[in-house]
Amino acid sequence: MKSIMQDRLSQETMDILTSIGRVADEMDLRAYVVGGFVRDLLLDNENLDLDVVAEGNGTQFAIEISKAMNGSVRSYESFGTSTVTLENGNKIDVATARKESYLNPGALPTVERGSIESDLFRRDFTINSLAIILNGDDSFKLIDFFNGQNDLNEKVLRVHHDLSYQDDPCRIFRTIRFEQRLKFSLSEKTEMLLNDAIQKKHFDLLSGHRLWNEIIAILKEKKPLRYFRRMKELRLLTAIHPKLSYNLGDMKSLEKIEKALPHLRMIPLPAKPEEWKIYLMAILCDLNDEEFTQTCKRLSFSEKQITFYDEELKTCRLYQEKLNLKSDFLPSEIFNMFSAISTEAVLLLAALSDKERTKKFVQLYFTEYISSSVPELTGDDLIELGIQPGPLFKTVLNSLQSARLNGLVISREDEVALVKNEYLN
Ligand code: CTP
Repeated sequence: MKSIMQDRLSQETMDILTSIGRVADEMDLRAYVVGGFVRDLLLDNENLDLDVVAEGNGTQFAIEISKAMNGSVRSYESFGTSTVTLENGNKIDVATARKESYLNPGALPTVERGSIESDLFRRDFTINSLAIILNGDDSFKLIDFFNGQNDLNEKVLRVHHDLSYQDDPCRIFRTIRFEQRLKFSLSEKTEMLLNDAIQKKHFDLLSGHRLWNEIIAILKEKKPLRYFRRMKELRLLTAIHPKLSYNLGDMKSLEKIEKALPHLRMIPLPAKPEEWKIYLMAILCDLNDEEFTQTCKRLSFSEKQITFYDEELKTCRLYQEKLNLKSDFLPSEIFNMFSAISTEAVLLLAALSDKERTKKFVQLYFTEYISSSVPELTGDDLIELGIQPGPLFKTVLNSLQSARLNGLVISREDEVALVKNEYLN
């Protein structure tokens, strides 16, 4: 008889899980799919990330799964975790069921083998501590040691124990993420523990890398504005920089981005932009030089990243002023400005500007100027015309590009005439 869980699964996922169960049978171990996948299955939300836990040797199990499913496998021995990549590129994370103890708050835990129950107990919230059995007589039965299903129904986020946030301060940010994404509320105790963890600044124990992972996960959520509002309300932005909450003020800039994005998404762009970067730049934009550097360092940005954002933001501020000062720009002026910064920075300019014309320029840049900026004449053509290769080349090509953009030349003949008149006499 089919279980209720089976009814919710797509045929493709059923096939994958059945194959994993078969391998588990052959190896005589118990396997489970756990975490976010089960949570989202019960909530009817799509989630293709399979997290599998084995009571037994997870590394060997992953190797056997990859053999049975023609995949490839990568193992991280020290964590007892592996990732199987299937032929279609889908990934399955496989881990040995484990018990964790935290010797130092914020640091990575000490890990030892455990039962599925201890593995589920070490997790962040009851709703993320559900599992589905993949083999044996109880195949596809839901395991719910901690009333996670009830919390899902009641839309409640609940940590397992009093030391949860101290053990792993990443959970402070995960709380915001799930609370806002799923529109759940916190259990009374969880709210109390969260406030206490924030007040005691447990997040200060997180490495820059782990903190950034949490922040970028929030930035990548569909509409991150309310996540940041909630962090501000909880005085959590101070984890990134003590002045951030003040500098972001009423979050007008993030609000503008959220409002502008649906329109900006309609513009055909050369490549899909990383929208989280637009939000990140808006956050960094309001910081002074010193605060900017401190924030980047706290988030463990590389020197290369720091230079990138520093230059992008300085250029954006300059362009913001320029675009506000006058209303008429030649197409080549717009092209020269916007092509010097990333697509995300151009979109930031459009989103933050209160002037309709800036949005219009951005639209024209992507829809017309980029495609009409390429002269017909090539380097070979210029040599043939008698221009010596060297610094002059770039000047000539730039002037052809500007002439094209501004409608001064429209054909190959026009371009030849321009080169002859301006550079060969
Ligand atoms: N987990 C945890 N504590 C963390 C990170 C992860 O307990 N700090 C557990 C949770 O059980 C979580 C699972 O590991 O469900 C997988 O982690 P992750 O992929 O980060 O979370 P998902 O729940 O899958 O969330 P998302 O939908 O954002 O991918």
